[in-house]
Amino acid sequence: MKNPFIYYSTVITTAMGLLHSCGQQAPQFGSAPIDDVIGAMTLEEKATFLVGSERLKETPPDSPPSVTRYPMFSKELQAKLDSCKSQEEAFNLVQATSLVKGRVQGAAGQNFAIPRLGIPSFIYADGPAGLRIDPLRDDEEGEFYCTAFPIESALSASWDTDLVQRVTAAMGQEVREYGVDVLLAPAINIHRNPLCGRNFEYFSEDPLLTGRMASAYINGIQSNNVGVSLKHFAVNNQETHRNGVDAQVSMRAMREIYLRGFEIAVKESQPWTIMSSYNKINGTFASENHWLLTELLRDEWGYQGFVMTDWWAQENGARQMAAGNDLIMPGTQRQFDNIIEAVRKGELDEKVLDTNIRRMMNILSKTSTATNYKYSNQPDLKAHAQVARQAATECMVLLENRQQTLPLSEKVKRIAAFGNASYDILVGGSGSGNVNRKYKVSLEEGLQNAGIALDEALAKSYGDYVKGELAKLPQENFWTIPVIAELPLDKAQVQRAVANTDLAVVTICRMAGEGGDRKNQPGDFQLSEVETSNINLICSAAHAAGKRVVVLLNMGNIIDLTPVLACKPDAVLHVWMGGQETGNSIADVLTGKASPSGKLPMTWAKHYEDYSSANDFPFSDEAGETVQYKEGVMVGYRHFDTRAIKPLYPFGYGLSYTTFLYSDIKAHSEAGSITLTVEVRNNGQRAGREAVQFYVSAPASDGIEKPVKELKAFAKTPLLQPGESATVKVTISASDLASWDESTNGWNLAKGTYRMMAAASADDIRCATEIEL
Ligand code: BGC
Repeated sequence: MKNPFIYYSTVITTAMGLLHSCGQQAPQFGSAPIDDVIGAMTLEEKATFLVGSERLKETPPDSPPSVTRYPMFSKELQAKLDSCKSQEEAFNLVQATSLVKGRVQGAAGQNFAIPRLGIPSFIYADGPAGLRIDPLRDDEEGEFYCTAFPIESALSASWDTDLVQRVTAAMGQEVREYGVDVLLAPAINIHRNPLCGRNFEYFSEDPLLTGRMASAYINGIQSNNVGVSLKHFAVNNQETHRNGVDAQVSMRAMREIYLRGFEIAVKESQPWTIMSSYNKINGTFASENHWLLTELLRDEWGYQGFVMTDWWAQENGARQMAAGNDLIMPGTQRQFDNIIEAVRKGELDEKVLDTNIRRMMNILSKTSTATNYKYSNQPDLKAHAQVARQAATECMVLLENRQQTLPLSEKVKRIAAFGNASYDILVGGSGSGNVNRKYKVSLEEGLQNAGIALDEALAKSYGDYVKGELAKLPQENFWTIPVIAELPLDKAQVQRAVANTDLAVVTICRMAGEGGDRKNQPGDFQLSEVETSNINLICSAAHAAGKRVVVLLNMGNIIDLTPVLACKPDAVLHVWMGGQETGNSIADVLTGKASPSGKLPMTWAKHYEDYSSANDFPFSDEAGETVQYKEGVMVGYRHFDTRAIKPLYPFGYGLSYTTFLYSDIKAHSEAGSITLTVEVRNNGQRAGREAVQFYVSAPASDGIEKPVKELKAFAKTPLLQPGESATVKVTISASDLASWDESTNGWNLAKGTYRMMAAASADDIRCATEIEL
């Protein structure tokens, strides 16, 4: 017998079709003008189109098939359905719909098909690090694996928009070839606090880096004729109580920090769809926020696409419609009823529904589904694995490299690899950001592929331990990818492994995912006792034996690094979660086949308490209902700079295997835009690329406290050979230098002298010039 959920859904949509099937054929979506299709829709069909296909899932599975709950059926149809002898029979009555099981299993959602009007079911699937669908189907032959690419925080560490666009062009091909219409990504909320559980899915603490990365990401995906859903709009900077927390934030902080990335992405790349966030903003749910979704997004920014809710954001359906939230996903019956009732009572103008439907249809008519694209179910996974491998190398950030420990000298033939993650590397986070990949390359495999042997006895202990512990873990599910506790080491074991090898590698990992934030506790933001003891043992044994230690950080975010640095490891490389080829990518960087050129997209503080939001995360009140963004615009480096707090590693920091000399900065202002150029020369011994950052200090402005400086442009050089130079050129629009003035509720461009700086990081200004505006 078919799944009753599907049974009910299909009954409803087709039932409405049947209702109208007598007489002449209704205008068909795809061939008739959109306004004619809308004109032919009943109120119920409109609400059906605007509320996703899962709204009937509340029905207990074992309840008898009954449609009386739904006031949309005619008596005749009700009678027909009631007279069906079995679900099977009723199912046959409605088989025209494409909702049977979902065409792409594991996709996050779809809408009801309305066959009477030729409206098919469109498919929406996650997520930022690759397409998330089920890899195997119980009723269909074949495999449907997708490529796990580097996570977003890693991608932004590349500071390379071309690279991001190459990655997402490949990702988008998978979206298209698996028959999905819209990818629910990129996610671009600001890293307000390092404990946010989804920072790995977000780009950065800085809105300009975020916005530019998002545009490149969107352009790559949409170059495949599939859409994105830019999410989560807006001010969704924590997971704790994400469905109800009220983010209380000033208009200035919103405009300059939390909305800026969205604004750039909307204006530069017109995402097909945007996902509103769960939380409240200054008392109003984002999905019910008319100012946010209509006045700002459409009227001010000129957004052309449509807005959908985040999943199960169960606010009032009628209010969501009125605010300009076009599609409710995956939909509840209550929200559907809200819409119908509000229209019937005259509280919601049906024209609002027409506008929302029109916006959706304008976009959806471009999709693969609407244009009957014959997808292959065979994207080029082999080629995409190579894209992922190369991209991950460009994202890694070299934090420490004493005495040129890296790249490894050719003398390093055998390594003692410590840390569970050396044998079970984490390649992505959990939740909707997870990707069902076919395989992952562990560090062990990656090193072996590069011709480096591992200490066998150590590899065997870890191998046995990891295998045994993994078998004991609960099954991975949407919300959690369980991670095993770190294997405790003893001194003799460490000394033996160190003596038998040329160098030690220690991998420290952290998992994270939506639905929860991280904690400033041992084993999470802090090292666990076992990790602290292990790293102490390893560093002392290795240094006593005259050998070096390389620490790899395998995570989407950051941890408290103080106890690690206290052991004086010789090199520290942030390898992020680099996707399914992570092990090979790490080996490429360790051996020098690739030169690390990533730089931090966030500030790495010495102490958690140094972050400006530390006292207001996740809540500002005892009841746990509100979070006050008291720090205003002083987020990340803006705060560290302005309050003169020295971070451990500044925003934009990252070493290379070579060094770069900056010179000859020039600024030229014309017709509202400023062109900056700087010469960058590779003055070191190896080839490399440099991420060049341009910060601007604005003149003082009455009543507006400005950050000491702000990132206003960036660019990455091509690969420069030793001695080679490049002229790096960027353009800044003068309007990008304005601050939001709360007193006039508008942008204010202060007159005076602006200092323009070319920098290797927020704390490493290499040359500067001034300009009068
Ligand atoms: C997440 C979204 C995601 C959606 C669909 C929600 O829980 O917040 O980012 O796209 O689920 O899986």
